[in-house]
Amino acid sequence: MQILVTGGTGYIGSHTVVELLNHGDDVVIVDNLSNSHPIVLERIEIITDKRPDFIKADVCNFEKMNEVFSKYQFDSIIHFAGSKAVGESVEKPLLYYRNNIESTWVLVELMEKYNVPSIIFSSSATVYGQPDINPITEDFSYQCTNPYGRTKMINELFLKDTTVAYPNISAISLRYFNPIGAHESGLIGEDPQGIPNNLMPYITQVAIGKLEKLSIFGDDYDTHDGTGVRDYIHVVDLAKGHVAAVNYLQEHKDTSFLAVNLGTGIGYSVLDIVHAFEKIIGREIPYQITDRRLGDIATCYANPKKAKELLNWEAKFDLEKMCEDSWRWQIKNPKGYVRSNVF
Ligand code: NAD
Ligand code: UFG
Repeated sequence: MQILVTGGTGYIGSHTVVELLNHGDDVVIVDNLSNSHPIVLERIEIITDKRPDFIKADVCNFEKMNEVFSKYQFDSIIHFAGSKAVGESVEKPLLYYRNNIESTWVLVELMEKYNVPSIIFSSSATVYGQPDINPITEDFSYQCTNPYGRTKMINELFLKDTTVAYPNISAISLRYFNPIGAHESGLIGEDPQGIPNNLMPYITQVAIGKLEKLSIFGDDYDTHDGTGVRDYIHVVDLAKGHVAAVNYLQEHKDTSFLAVNLGTGIGYSVLDIVHAFEKIIGREIPYQITDRRLGDIATCYANPKKAKELLNWEAKFDLEKMCEDSWRWQIKNPKGYVRSNVF
């Protein structure tokens, strides 16, 4: 199949492109490189022996995207492109609402025009906000607590409405839990700009000596050790979930809209992650307990049953593998893509 991958040079996108190419699909990446590096394309080629077509463009640019759609006949779209930092979304709602919503609007408008039958959308467990109970199933109500989360919710509602109105279009919204890890080659991985917001890149940067110590945001939550519990999922498992979703819609053309959790179903605390990582590197990670981070919740993990039943997908990699691969990526690329040791 010919697949358009927006945001395909980013963290989750690049791993998904690798899985699609390994699966035998042809891939066209559109990315404006606002949060990624073009060297990713070389890395993808080393891993797969195939080079995806790449177009540097903003998905919100209708005219440019019209040119892309007129050149290729896509069988499906995977839409990763977007802005993803919760804190930044509170400060810059205009950027978030525009980038995250207009991009999907442009794609669906062009899907209708060029008869592209399916789209897979990157959603997030953040749409559930603070759930009353865990594990979380897809029928839980929207409880978004920040602009970023609301852009994901609005996209889902938009896709629901458009797939009803245009029965020739199908959509699956994949609600990711906490992606970590990297491709086992150490050639592609997460490359946050500046000081990382997320737990795993922060830990790996402490381990390599770039940051002094980890701050653990609160140890007084109602969890087994007081620190926050999340459902960490290996990015390669997540990537495979996208291949499964594309295939599902290829075989079930009468689908309108589906929302599906991609998680492992297992909740680990911050201290569980720290200790698992310490086991891999054979030394301690310095940390301090600080106040809770504003907006954080105690516990969030998925019920992944729907993904298993519908997509025949389930996460395979355990926490040890997630830590090992995160660490390999970090030591091979101590400064990220720009000045890595690999090239
Ligand atoms: P990322 O920033 O690494 O990748 C996003 C890519 O999209 C980047 O390469 C960026 O340059 C590109 N991009 C952004 N706006 C664009 C635009 N208008 N036109 C073209 N390209 C554009 O992020 P990621 O972690 O790979 O996340 C991918 C998607 O998954 C995002 O939509 C994000 O909201 C969602 N998501 C991520 C997480 C996570 O923890 N990483 C969790 C849940 C959902
Ligand atoms: N944490 C720390 N110290 C840090 C960073 C994080 O203690 O330096 C803790 C947090 O308090 C939380 C856990 O580690 O308990 C995980 O935090 P992350 O920032 O890695 O992830 P979040 O669960 O807060 O958020 C992530 C993405 C969001 C997405 C959400 C649900 O960043 O975009 O998962 O998918 F919405």
